[in-house]
Amino acid sequence: MNNNLKENIIWQKHSITRIKREKKNGHKSIVIWFTGLSGSGKSSIANSLEKILFKSNLNTYLLDGDNIRSNLCSDLGFSILDRNENIRRIGEVAKLMMDAGIIVLVSVISPYKNQRKKVSIMLGEKNFLEVFVDTPINICEERDPKKLYKKSRLGKISDFTGIQSVYEIPEKPDLCLDGTISLKNNTKKLIKILCDRNIISFSNIDKTFLF
Ligand code: ADX
Repeated sequence: MNNNLKENIIWQKHSITRIKREKKNGHKSIVIWFTGLSGSGKSSIANSLEKILFKSNLNTYLLDGDNIRSNLCSDLGFSILDRNENIRRIGEVAKLMMDAGIIVLVSVISPYKNQRKKVSIMLGEKNFLEVFVDTPINICEERDPKKLYKKSRLGKISDFTGIQSVYEIPEKPDLCLDGTISLKNNTKKLIKILCDRNIISFSNIDKTFLF
């Protein structure tokens, strides 16, 4: 950014803070960051979790890679630079939403370790819950819900993650989910970690779907 511009930008402190919003909401805010291959199940798991949190009267929002790329990031492709910018923007939006007191679910491939690290630093480590949806690539390719693996094998799309472009497995995610087991079991694991970290209280959760 132009230095002169940076110098002349002064952060405004507002009266209504994240802490006040959290108190009003009756729960903490956080960013739950789902990373994994295309077709691994990130969006389905995030959607399942959000349904329960929403039903439990908690404030949530789900930022999904394909949806964000349809608008906010529609100018970006899949080169390393573009993916970095995609993740940076999503991280910044998630940060604003977290400041607004929301439990933010982010479902993006985010293939590079350094991208995820940068977001974690930007948000503050304790605000960033890294969830690795671990599904073997052959299963993702078999599922191929958007027929993109097929297209990439036929050379109709380039830089496809897992085929022509690398996915760097998280070394120490906060939670590792097996993307081949039931949605219900994975959702339970997520509810548990949110309770363990005191983000939500188990007594407030609508359990009709869980048992
Ligand atoms: S990321 O790599 O920048 O994190 P993001 O999650 O936003 O990716 O978008 C991935 C989605 O874009 C995939 O789910 C898929 O539907 C679509 N897509 C289109 N082309 C590619 C590609 N070359 N690599 C990966 N995903 C692609």
